[in-house]
Amino acid sequence: MSSSNHNQMRRGAFATRIGAIATAVGSAVGLGNIWRFPYEAGTNGGGAFLIIYLFFIAIVGIPLLCAEFAMGRDSRANAVKTFASLTGRKSMGAVGVMGIVASVLILSFYSVVAGWTIEYTIISFSRGFKSTDVETLHSLFNSSIASPAKSLFFTWLFLLINYFALARGVRKGIERLSNLLMPVLFLILIVFCVNSLMLPDAGRGLRFLFAVDFSQVSVTTVLSAMGQAFFSLSIGLGCMLTYGSYFKDSTIIPRTAVSIASLDTLVAILSGIIIFPAVFSFGMSPTAGPTLVFETLPAIFGAMAGGRILAPLFFILLFIASLTSTISMSEISISFCTEQFGWSRKKASAAVIGLSMALGGLCALSFGPLANFKICSLTVFNLFDFASSNVLLPLGGVCASLIAGWAYPRSRLAAQLSLTGNKLFSVIRFLLRYIIPFCILLIFINSL
Ligand code: PHE
Repeated sequence: MSSSNHNQMRRGAFATRIGAIATAVGSAVGLGNIWRFPYEAGTNGGGAFLIIYLFFIAIVGIPLLCAEFAMGRDSRANAVKTFASLTGRKSMGAVGVMGIVASVLILSFYSVVAGWTIEYTIISFSRGFKSTDVETLHSLFNSSIASPAKSLFFTWLFLLINYFALARGVRKGIERLSNLLMPVLFLILIVFCVNSLMLPDAGRGLRFLFAVDFSQVSVTTVLSAMGQAFFSLSIGLGCMLTYGSYFKDSTIIPRTAVSIASLDTLVAILSGIIIFPAVFSFGMSPTAGPTLVFETLPAIFGAMAGGRILAPLFFILLFIASLTSTISMSEISISFCTEQFGWSRKKASAAVIGLSMALGGLCALSFGPLANFKICSLTVFNLFDFASSNVLLPLGGVCASLIAGWAYPRSRLAAQLSLTGNKLFSVIRFLLRYIIPFCILLIFINSL
């Protein structure tokens, strides 16, 4: 059997065992929605950030999601190979390599936060969250993440769980489990929303999240909202392209992209409705940054009827949602290593996870011993977050958009999108050719 046939079989087997679309949702929904969205909205002024974020999801995110799925399904190969073959230039594979770099950076800092969810799962099972006192919660969480031993332990534990999921072939099981459990997570989020809306001073939180005050908007706000859209939809790094390569021919790509983006955005907004009323009600600050959600949630659970039971359930579900996202990030590099170098899955997984353990270790220590070690005035954790979400992903988005708009034959793109002869196709292609690259580059130039 030729190696490409072999690859095809492997890809095919993957595709039929678990719905590829459900897997793409698993990639999109994760800490990006529940942890990153509220903290980014909090540090960037709330309502104005939300509006700009929604703009990017609609104008940039959905068309790019369509383009990644289309190119992936057409080439049935990893991102590096796809970009090289669509442009007829080997050097364009570099766009795929940039995505691989971004995915490793994201995996490194994401695992630190996923480690926090493991720690909180344990705490919520054992003693639970009783205090709603801001100072107590603040010092509890900060002393915990500042401890190098604890931080490293939980970050590495999370990465090792990833390794077993990826190398031992249990990822499909995890993804199936996640598909079953995500509706439960959704229901719990709704219960938390109702609870938050009934807190005293909830109105202030809602006003913060939904009232648009454009006087608050700076280039940084726009850059952050764009980065959040890319991060949350898992686009700009070849992740959705890789998943598109597993799609069935009968999948209607635009409809799938709109469903994924809507669901993803809904979870982020629900998370905002949970966090901000609580932030104002308990007298916290919305601008706390990456620690915001982990300091706010315990107060919510402490004050809530049934919090003792719902808290552990919530953290387990959040952990599973994180795991399906990190599996998708790792898959970009793993499919590249297995297809390009002929490595076994085990060897490729070990290489990717090993590298992430080293880099993730540095991110974990950013809240403790390495807190004062800064590059461009950012800690390693913040640098990885900023460099991947706000720089590499949008840059990957520009390249993918240009390739889809200019190099990819019009008729093939239209056929993949099931939009041959449809006006909507001209709109999507126009966005890909001109508007998306122009928009992103303009924001880059301004933020320099
Ligand atoms: N979209 C994921 C989340 O919101 C994170 C992610 C980014 C996953 C990039 C894959 C690639 O949690």
